Order: sequence, then C-alpha cells, then structure tokens
Amino acid sequence: MAAVRVQSIAYGGVGAIPSQFIRADHERSALNAPPAKIPLIDMSMLHASPDLRQPTVAEIGTAAQEWGIFQVVNHGISEDLIRRLQTVGKEFFDLPQEEKETYANNAEDGNLEGYGTKLVHNIEGKMGWNDYYFHMLWPPSRRDLNTWPKCPSSYREVCEDYGRGILSVVDKLLSALSINLGVQECSLKEAIGGEDMEMEMKINYYPPCPQPELALGVLPHTDMSALTLLVANQASGLQVFKDSDWVAVDHVPNAIVVHIGDTLQILSNGKYKNVLHRSVVSKDKVRMSWPVFCNPPGNKVVAPMKELLDDHSPALFTAKTFTDYRRCKINKVKK
Ligand code: OGA
Ligand code: NI
Repeated sequence: MAAVRVQSIAYGGVGAIPSQFIRADHERSALNAPPAKIPLIDMSMLHASPDLRQPTVAEIGTAAQEWGIFQVVNHGISEDLIRRLQTVGKEFFDLPQEEKETYANNAEDGNLEGYGTKLVHNIEGKMGWNDYYFHMLWPPSRRDLNTWPKCPSSYREVCEDYGRGILSVVDKLLSALSINLGVQECSLKEAIGGEDMEMEMKINYYPPCPQPELALGVLPHTDMSALTLLVANQASGLQVFKDSDWVAVDHVPNAIVVHIGDTLQILSNGKYKNVLHRSVVSKDKVRMSWPVFCNPPGNKVVAPMKELLDDHSPALFTAKTFTDYRRCKINKVKK
C-alpha cells in the first residue's frame, strides 16, 4: 500500500490535522521558542598560518563544547551553488505526486534511499509533518545513482558539486576540532574512516500546516553522525535545546548550520556535545532543509580516541561498530 504523504494531506485542504501528527502536550511546549544567537563563525582564516587561524580554531572548539551547534560563513561554497541545490530540490518536490512515487523508498525493510515519509518512528507512533528524500552522496563507490532523482536532469551534477564543496568544509572543520582536542590534525577524519567517510544527503520537505501549534516537523533527536551540515530555505523552524529550553536558530543567508552528532561526542569522549534539536512548521510557508550527515562506514569501530584517555579520564563510551551504535539507537526509539 502506498504511504500517505504529508504533502498530499497538506494540499488536500484539511482544516484539522490527522491525530497521528498531534504532539503530546509535553512536546508542544515552547513551539514559539525565542531566537538564540547560536555561534556564527567566519571560516576564512582557517586557510592561514597556524598562528592566524588559532582564534577561529578556538571558536569552533568552544561552540562544539558549549552548544554542539554553530553556523559558518565564508565556508567556500558559493551562494550560487547553494541556490542551485535548493532549486533542484524544490523542483523535485514540485513534481506531480505520481512521479515522485516512482522514487518511493522501502523504509519498512530498512532501505531509506529514495522518497519517503517518517524517517524515525517515535515511541507513540507519532509522525512529523515532513516528507523527505534520502540518498548516499559520498564516496562514489557507495552511491547508487538509480536512487537519485532523475528529474530535474541537472540534479546529479548540482548535488555532486555540492557534495565536493561539503567534503572540503567538513575536512577543515574536522582539522580544527582535532587541533582543539590536542590530537593530530588528521585524527578525527581518520577515526571516521578517512577516505571511506560516508556522506548522506537528506532533503526535508515541510508543507504548510493548518495547525502548526499542534505539530512538529522532525521530532526531538540527536543525529548519529559525526557532523551534520545543513542549509535551509528562508523559512525558519530549526530549534535546539540549550540550558533546559528550546531556542530557535536564526536564519543567516548562505550560512551552513553545523551539528555535532553522537559519533563526535563518543570520539571526543564527551568533550564535544551532540545537540538535541527538532523543527517546527508554519501555517503558510513551505520549509525545506538539506542536511548532509557525515558518518563512519558501518564496520568502523567507534570509541573514544586513545590519545584522550588516561587514569584520570577513563572512556565514557563503549567501543562498537557504527552499525551497532545505529542498531542500538533505533531499538531504543522503537521500544
Ligand atoms: C534532520 C533534522 C532539521 C531541519 O533531518 O535530522 O534535524 O532543520 N532536520 O530540518
Ligand atoms: Ni537532525
């Protein structure tokens, strides 16, 4: 049976949202969270000599420890490329529903690549007001172009260009985050597989919602990734949990939002913080976002880096393959 898409419900003209989208009271709190100035970091000096780049390196380290999220500008990806990425993604979601369904994934069998609804099942079986597209982006040997949108025809080229750009931003961030831990500059990249590091592309599509105050876009979660790099369209909606409150991430044009995920928290033995986040939806705007998840390959063992451990700093996390960490987390959510 074909899955019901949130986009179809939204444009079906209902005045009240179906019950599976209505959040529990405790999850509805502070949907109108106050805006927060999450750290905004200018990456332009990261190319410079070690002395000159040090203040930026320190800013990145502090943001990763205190917030687990920050935005970066002067990251090296052009405004034009971000605009093209957003255009091809929007063109896909604007296709007739029947055409999008030809890309439907098989999420029930654990195959998330393709067009889908509801990536994470929450405990009460509730759903986010969200459809998505999901596919492997990197490395080339791991991706299956059959699962990528073929329409618009420029999708592949634009997405590949963006993937190369993101890879270079990720490499710079991982170097800075390594230096801040006092380990070798290449350590974090190696710990997540080096050249075998994987990047997954997700496009989130949040249609306008007749009762935005009752729904959520994506439910509160931390990402499993090492890092997630996200760009969004103009519509705001991302919120993060900071000092016991939800705060809204302000939209900075052309900035990339960087999330610290579970993997980096483990590798840094808890020094860097995985950020709890969610998204809210709006009555009249379509919100779209493009997170890229940077993960170790499934068979890579993820554990606190040895250089960080001694008698006074024991490992706070057990060593497990990334696949096992993923499995444990999914089982916990389903229970
Ligand atoms: C996600 C996510 C937030 C957003 O897809 O993992 O956290 O702003 N998305 O869309
Ligand atoms: Ni997320």
